[in-house]
Amino acid sequence: MTQVRVLMVCLGNICRSPLAEGILRHKAPADKIEVDSAGTSNYHIGEAPDPRSVSIARKYGIDIRSQRGRQFTVSDFHDFDLIYAMDKSNYQHILNMAPDETSRKKVALILNELHPGQDMDVPDPYYGGDQGFENVFNMLDQACDRILDKVL
Ligand code: 4NP
Repeated sequence: MTQVRVLMVCLGNICRSPLAEGILRHKAPADKIEVDSAGTSNYHIGEAPDPRSVSIARKYGIDIRSQRGRQFTVSDFHDFDLIYAMDKSNYQHILNMAPDETSRKKVALILNELHPGQDMDVPDPYYGGDQGFENVFNMLDQACDRILDKVL
């Protein structure tokens, strides 16, 4: 089987999607899945992940420090097979940029892998405390298990 290319997308690409990227890469065989992440905004281009995301990832044995923020672009529809949005706002933003139906079909809300059809958001932990990051990590950890079940 060829490599499946998965893109995780949030708003800033410093809190949620870097965690999702790190978790999926940690769980997946590198020859089977390629993972990247991006933000719909340009707020944090070139920046390392939020220290609270680095810290929660490290707690679970995952090092995300080398990741850098980048903005989602139309070329990502060509470069990736699956595009997971962390919340409905990002989802709509991505869909609005999709050039065709093939591109639109690649986009999904990540928590629909865990709770099909419920359209739940991964809550934005940026303005909250450390507990928010623990919560986000656990949601993404479970969602990534389902993604692996699906693509491997
Ligand atoms: P993320 O969190 O989308 O999970 O990376 C945020 C990071 C930064 C901002 C908002 C959300 N911000 O407004 O700068």
